[in-house]
Amino acid sequence: MTVIVEAQDLGKHYPVGGNLLQKGTSLKAVDGVNLKVHAGETFAIVGESGCGKSTLARLLMRLMLPTSGEVIFEGRAIAKLKGAEVRALRKDLQFIFQDPFSSLNPRMTVAQLIAEPLEIHRPNLTAGERRKEVGRLLAEVGLRPSHMDRYPHEFSGGQRQRIGIARALASDPKVVIADEPVSALDVSVQAQVVNLMGDLCDQRGLTLIVIAHDLAVIRHMSDRIAVMYLGRVVETGPTDEVFANPRHPYTRALMSAIPVAEFGATQSRQHLSGEPPSPLAPPSGCSFRTRCPFATEICAQMQPVNETVAPGTEVACHHWRDVSSVSLTIAASATGRSPGAEARFAMYRTALANQDSP
Ligand SMILES: Nc1ncnc2c1ncn2[C@@H]1O[C@H](COP(=O)(O)OP(=O)(O)OP(=O)(O)O)[C@@H](O)[C@H]1O
Ligand code: SF4
Ligand SMILES: [Mg+2]
Repeated sequence: MTVIVEAQDLGKHYPVGGNLLQKGTSLKAVDGVNLKVHAGETFAIVGESGCGKSTLARLLMRLMLPTSGEVIFEGRAIAKLKGAEVRALRKDLQFIFQDPFSSLNPRMTVAQLIAEPLEIHRPNLTAGERRKEVGRLLAEVGLRPSHMDRYPHEFSGGQRQRIGIARALASDPKVVIADEPVSALDVSVQAQVVNLMGDLCDQRGLTLIVIAHDLAVIRHMSDRIAVMYLGRVVETGPTDEVFANPRHPYTRALMSAIPVAEFGATQSRQHLSGEPPSPLAPPSGCSFRTRCPFATEICAQMQPVNETVAPGTEVACHHWRDVSSVSLTIAASATGRSPGAEARFAMYRTALANQDSP
């Protein structure tokens, strides 16, 4: 499989609290991340709020430069690109934003919004050809071409996200990065937008890197998954494998927040207690140790390195073998679910209750 995007020991550290006289500290938003995204796959990044998902996405797109390490796109280090090469990179790497309400300029019509990237990345098109292409892109994302002269406020949230997707597709990118693409949408339209993105990836052979809180969405969409905790990737592997056999204690705790029915009612639950530690003062050794039920002395002393534990699956945990041998517990009282997962959970509960009744 061809690797299209790769992160090599990637880090983004923000200086915090320093002044002329006193050295501040640094916040490691992304720290030592290694990843390989294959051409044509959907690669998901998950983890709690503040663990560095959006920072990683911005680094992968060269919307910011790393403090350490490299991002390689199609074999070239993107930090070293200049001028026309950066413009070519912008054409190949596009972003879908979380909020379809604030990401579209309200004073521009849909035709203008989608024509803008066409003008930049495909300057040879005539005005007529551009308009035709806008219509084609709108139809591709399930909107009526005849609505292209309307303004964003005339569309629903789901339709606006479709406009955002059409805009991202206008440059005919190779990779699209979507940061929480459905979390701002009504639960009722989330699945439609998720399915649309899946179809577009299949039809166009697109590589999609998707960030989402909702593990049910991730499970539905992605081929492979990376789980992040406090700036580091702690587990990565094929989505089916990671969901079937989560090996890192943090991944297992995240999985515990998924409805029982998705795993089978025989499983029980592992709680994820407390808040993540401040990224300004991460714990020594393994940064998950303050919340980990499996932590021992070595966890405070040594940072675990990524180990290959199954084909294509890596875990950074000193005790992954012991952890894997303990059966995972998932309870019906999981908290912290997204509205989408909450709705699905209610549905599963009803289905289970009906199943149980004579
Ligand atoms: N410009 C900045 N200066 C200092 N710290 C920052 C900056 N941008 C982000 N951070 C910090 O870096 C860490 C990672 O932030 P990031 O936005 O990447 O997290 P996230 O996983 O995307 O969170 P969420 O799920 O809430 O979107 C957080 O602790 C955040 O406060
Ligand atoms: S290394 Fe130790 S603290 Fe970290 S996840 Fe594994 S068992 Fe828990
Ligand atoms: Mg984010």
